[in-house]
Amino acid sequence: MKGVILAGGTGSRLKPATLVTNKHLLPVYNKPMIFFPLETMAACGFKEVMIVSGREHAGHFLNLLGSGKDFGLKLSYEVQEEAGGIAQALCLAEDFAEHGPVAVQLGDNIFENTGQLVNGVKKFSADPNGAMIFLKAVPDPERFGVAEVLGDKVASIIEKPKNPKSNLCVTGFYIYDGRVFDVIKTLKPSGRGELEITEVNNYYINNSSMKFETVEGEWTDAGTFESLFRAGELARKTALENQK
Ligand code: DAU
Repeated sequence: MKGVILAGGTGSRLKPATLVTNKHLLPVYNKPMIFFPLETMAACGFKEVMIVSGREHAGHFLNLLGSGKDFGLKLSYEVQEEAGGIAQALCLAEDFAEHGPVAVQLGDNIFENTGQLVNGVKKFSADPNGAMIFLKAVPDPERFGVAEVLGDKVASIIEKPKNPKSNLCVTGFYIYDGRVFDVIKTLKPSGRGELEITEVNNYYINNSSMKFETVEGEWTDAGTFESLFRAGELARKTALENQK
């Protein structure tokens, strides 16, 4: 299985910090944000990883990361011409993924503990059909895709609900079988003009082929000033623990 990191988008909620650079190049405590998903991909055992980013800053990722050898990865790069949504960005990795299963991480997601992701990748590799998401209980679910779990199944996901049915956020790490690219091609832009990853996930739920795991340890996105600040605190805690 190959890995894809999505690092496009406009970073609009972080303006003016993102006026002349890409969100995923901003520092999170002691390193650029994009280092975190790269480290997660390496921890999950992936060797070949594609980074999808917007046209304006694609060259900066190449300058910073090169071949990926510092992370033990072989990196490929793809350009998303317009910020048309997470699912649209993922679709650009179709040839790279060779129509096979693919693991995807949003470039602004930081996981303290990669154990459940590693387990999930192993489980999915043993039965590479359907999709897998990773859930985390959060205090502010209305900011995210929110999953309703009934028994051992995900019943639905609603993107940024006003009245969340649970506190279970769908984090930005996903695994899909090769069907995902055909599913994305059937999507229409949402109210915010994007091809939504939540619609992709709901396709798999409706086909009874969605699996899920629960994330242990802290998790945060870093797409707003508050969450970027929290990401810095989490990164600092991890860095200091690693020094001990
Ligand atoms: O962080 C987890 C959440 O991420 C999920 O719970 C939501 O279901 C999911 O929709 C997403 O929500 P956001 O609205 O916070 O996503 P955002 O627009 O910030 O995009 C997240 C990342 O996806 C971003 O860091 C880069 C990538 N992206 C996004 C867009 C819109 C792209 O590569 N291209 C894009 O066009």
